[in-house]
Amino acid sequence: MGYYTEFRRSIDHPEDFWREQAGKIDWIKPPKTIWQATSNGHGVWFPDGELNSSQIALDANINAGRGDQAALIYDSPVTDTKRSYTYRELTEAVALFAGALKNQGIAKGDRVIIYMPMIPEAVIGMLACARIGAVHSVVFGGFASHELAVRIDDAKPKAVLTASCGIEVNRVIAYKPLVDRAIDQSEHKPDCCIVFQRPEVTAEFNSDRDVDWQAATEAAEPADPVPVKATDPLYILYTSGTTGKPKGVVRDNGGHAVAITYSMKLVYDANPGDVYWAASDVGWVVGHSYIVYGPLFAGCTTILYEGKPVKTPDAGAFWRVVQDHGVNLLFTAPTAFRAIRKEDPEADQLARYNINSLKRLFLAGERLDPPTYDWLKEHTNLPVLDHWWQTETGWAICCNPVGLEMMKTKAGSATVPSPGFNVQIVDSRGHQTPAGQQGQVVVKLPLPPGCLLTVWGDDQRFQHSYLDPVPGYYTSGDGGYIDEDGYVFIMGRTDDVINVAGHRLSTGEMEEVLASHPAVAECCVVGAHDELKGQIPIGLVLIKDGATINHDELEDELVEMVREKIGAIACFRRALVVERLPKTRSGKILRRVIRQIADGEEYTVPSTIDDPAILTEIKEQLG
Ligand code: COA
Ligand code: AMP
Repeated sequence: MGYYTEFRRSIDHPEDFWREQAGKIDWIKPPKTIWQATSNGHGVWFPDGELNSSQIALDANINAGRGDQAALIYDSPVTDTKRSYTYRELTEAVALFAGALKNQGIAKGDRVIIYMPMIPEAVIGMLACARIGAVHSVVFGGFASHELAVRIDDAKPKAVLTASCGIEVNRVIAYKPLVDRAIDQSEHKPDCCIVFQRPEVTAEFNSDRDVDWQAATEAAEPADPVPVKATDPLYILYTSGTTGKPKGVVRDNGGHAVAITYSMKLVYDANPGDVYWAASDVGWVVGHSYIVYGPLFAGCTTILYEGKPVKTPDAGAFWRVVQDHGVNLLFTAPTAFRAIRKEDPEADQLARYNINSLKRLFLAGERLDPPTYDWLKEHTNLPVLDHWWQTETGWAICCNPVGLEMMKTKAGSATVPSPGFNVQIVDSRGHQTPAGQQGQVVVKLPLPPGCLLTVWGDDQRFQHSYLDPVPGYYTSGDGGYIDEDGYVFIMGRTDDVINVAGHRLSTGEMEEVLASHPAVAECCVVGAHDELKGQIPIGLVLIKDGATINHDELEDELVEMVREKIGAIACFRRALVVERLPKTRSGKILRRVIRQIADGEEYTVPSTIDDPAILTEIKEQLG
């Protein structure tokens, strides 16, 4: 069946369509009801089905004869280690650790926060939670203690899983002190903190709640997968919204297993036995869907890479991994290839390796800029496929559906809506726009399986953020247009979310940090264009009357505060002291205009501006 036929069927007969897809996974109790409406129009998928996500990812592969196939290959240039787990070995490791969690009193529905580097134990921890029906919430290791504390207070975990350290290019980061500080700061206190000791750093155990990972595993009996309802949460993954408080995206078990399995074929044309590498981190949605669950649901071999695209040790690192493990499908963020191209513009490193195993390159997480696309096409001669999605959706809203048919690509377009996503463009009044005209990108309800159930502990926020803005639709927060051929072009966020090196961050959250400095009266943060990272944050601050602080000192202090409160990944390095902030007469800061000035773009002076002269002052300062 071609793309258009499949797409139409998914929209006109969604229940038939997804019943068929649900038939492809291993249920404990197959669902009779496919979709059930809820009063907000969002609905739930497969409400009477029962399954276990770890069983589908692991045991089902052994049952299908893949027990001796590599399930996970750990490649860590930063520790000079390579290790492979077969499906049988990974299942055993997960079952044992699941037993260790049970011994700590963790049961179905309990939350477990995972704050770990890219080591196999992070994957084992996630799958062990799934096995006993506990809800994991992975927090990216680059976030500071404060961010971890916020998530601990929101998710209220019974346990935190961590390792003694993470390893960055130029330094080893001890994780345990960061976790201890987060637990000190949080109101909610987890019962236990299970620590995996790495050889590079030995964590100190300084509380009754600390448990040694190894010892806990040795004392455990393997645990069997428990049945959970399709609508029970598999995980919570926090993502940046427009306020300082991150949103806990809740993913169900059933819809997720069906949709992610479908996406492995549709979006990537991945088949059992393929070696699939998502060069991302388990702390992001890409890591959840396509390092851990997707490749294992599909019987592939997944690569877990603890390294960077450059400097570990050089810009040939990705090509080396492809060669060493025979990678067939590679997925990463454009920023990773921008970093490689910057260091190796002529792709000399690529020539050193044999990458014949590679069939396709997939890019997502931010806009695929044409120079990066052209460089990749020229030097690899492979299909380079952009696809657009979000933490909220868990899989591609738009893609080139190679599993059905390879469509013509168009520069700057993520191609066409994936079956199940009725993507439309609406104007500020919620009316559909004609082809080619920009507006907000929305998806007509119901969303297909795999998308967020709600925001953890705050259904009102879910309703308010995603469903209320355009009744009957899910609002993506991105702007864009659909051309006359039905191709979707995503042009960037319409809210205060920015994208720094493929990492989603909230400028509102950074503003809260800046505003907490005693000398700062008012501030704003915008995302300015950056050649390597796509965007980087820039702060503009107004000093309180009477405050006498040197501007450079203030900038240093603010930079340190953002690093301390949010983390190094925010890449916040510039805070300019300004005399005034440009505002509308009603007092709204003109962030869009400030961003345009920072990017050197043409801007129109809004008619509502309070004092147009401020814009010239800001331009001089940013210049
Ligand atoms: N734990 C602790 N600190 C981390 C971290 C982690 N897991 N990941 C990043 N950091 C720190 C870095 O050490 C760095 O600190 P520094 O300011 O002290 O040097 C800071 O956060 C910024 O890191 P990073 O964004 O990695 O910038 P970089 O300049 O070191 O590297 C790239 C640039 C492009 C190579 C890198 O950003 C990259 O690999 N991007 C790919 C992004 C990606 O995969 N995104 C996932 C979405 S698909
Ligand atoms: P995250 O939730 O971290 O995956 O970030 C999602 C956001 O990243 C989207 O809302 C977009 O703004 C941006 N994004 C992701 N993929 C793409 C893409 N292929 N093209 C343009 N923007 C993208």
